[in-house]
Amino acid sequence: MRKVGLYIHIPFCIKKCAYCDFKSYENSLEYRDAYIEAAGRELSGYKDALKGAVVDTVYIGGGTPSALSPAQIIRLGEHIRANAPVSPDAEFTFEANPDTGTREVFTAAREAGANRVSMGLQSASDEELKTLGRLHTVKRFEESFRLARECGFKNISVDLMTGLPGQSMESLFASADFAVSMAPEHISAYGLKIEEGTRFYEIKDSLPLPDEDTEADMYLGLTEYLSERGYRQYEISNYAKDGFYSRHNMRYWLGSEYIGIGCAAHSFFGGKRYFNAPGIEGYISAEKSGRSPVMECESLSREDMLTEHIMLRLRTVRGIRHDEFRAAFGFGFPERFKEEIEKYTSSGHMLSDGAHTSLTPRGFLLSNSIIADILLKI
Ligand SMILES: C[S@@+](CC[C@H](N)C(=O)[O-])C[C@H]1O[C@@H](n2cnc3c(N)ncnc32)[C@H](O)[C@@H]1O
Ligand code: SF4
Repeated sequence: MRKVGLYIHIPFCIKKCAYCDFKSYENSLEYRDAYIEAAGRELSGYKDALKGAVVDTVYIGGGTPSALSPAQIIRLGEHIRANAPVSPDAEFTFEANPDTGTREVFTAAREAGANRVSMGLQSASDEELKTLGRLHTVKRFEESFRLARECGFKNISVDLMTGLPGQSMESLFASADFAVSMAPEHISAYGLKIEEGTRFYEIKDSLPLPDEDTEADMYLGLTEYLSERGYRQYEISNYAKDGFYSRHNMRYWLGSEYIGIGCAAHSFFGGKRYFNAPGIEGYISAEKSGRSPVMECESLSREDMLTEHIMLRLRTVRGIRHDEFRAAFGFGFPERFKEEIEKYTSSGHMLSDGAHTSLTPRGFLLSNSIIADILLKI
């Protein structure tokens, strides 16, 4: 049976963090009701296309889905139930910020169908949280996490960040200790990227960022630390206890189908990629007047698919499976990229046996240049 993922983008935040360039807007909460209805209309447009398929992962992400009111979350759940054939054992994630992750919000998320929460902690130092422009304290995170558990979430993921201004190895490991002490099932740890358009970008030259060597030590040290505590790395930035890897995110890395609903969302469905318009108002007015919010649609050429297969799979510990690669492209990965494989396996950046090729944690650190090197050959 055809399996499809569903992503719904919630572009609202109470306050924009200093580092974040995700498509989300502060001071826009008055659009929430109209936005949920527009999302419902967009989703209903897929109802026929989804006949005979099953939606086995749902991800309500953002932005900050917990910035919706409980009634809006329940309404969103109704739209999903009415239009998408979600399987009873689907992984259904709801993203939350500790500030707005209240008992009422988590109860509503459960009612909407969610069984997994992903929550941003970033750091367990109140001082670092302040620098990041986060509104919550460590104590508030602890409270919100506990509420999510009390509301029945048995699968919780926590986001951490490395390479923060003023962050030391000690403070990173204190944050990791704290995160592990909460016993989440999954941890994401993202290296800070200074993105254009953010407050950090404006003041980037004055930020006390760790140097490259420290950043590398942070990454490798954290990977080892988490693995010793049962959080096995399965992707560049993601670690999970056995059986708790994110099935939805894995779908992106394996190139499986998904539908993206909402402003700035994208989809990969029926061999085509669709990109929705980024703004809230444009999205709502397009849906209201019956116009498609899709701004761009592209069919993937064989070369695009080959590039994506290599780029996305080499992000995962699973790596490139040689049999899958040959079935998809008609030639052998180890034969075509023999020189690169020899170069990077002997330098300790890559593992390759008869069945698969993947990057090591040290390889993940250099993944951009290694992948670029491989792609030069295609
Ligand atoms: C949509 S937010 C998570 C949910 C919620 N909005 C929150 O902040 O708690 C996605 C995550 O991406 C990460 N992130 C955002 N911008 C980043 C950046 N510039 N560099 C590294 N990680 C970033 C943060 O860890 C953040 O928690
Ligand atoms: S990190 Fe989360 S809360 Fe902060 S701006 Fe980005 S989406 Fe909003």
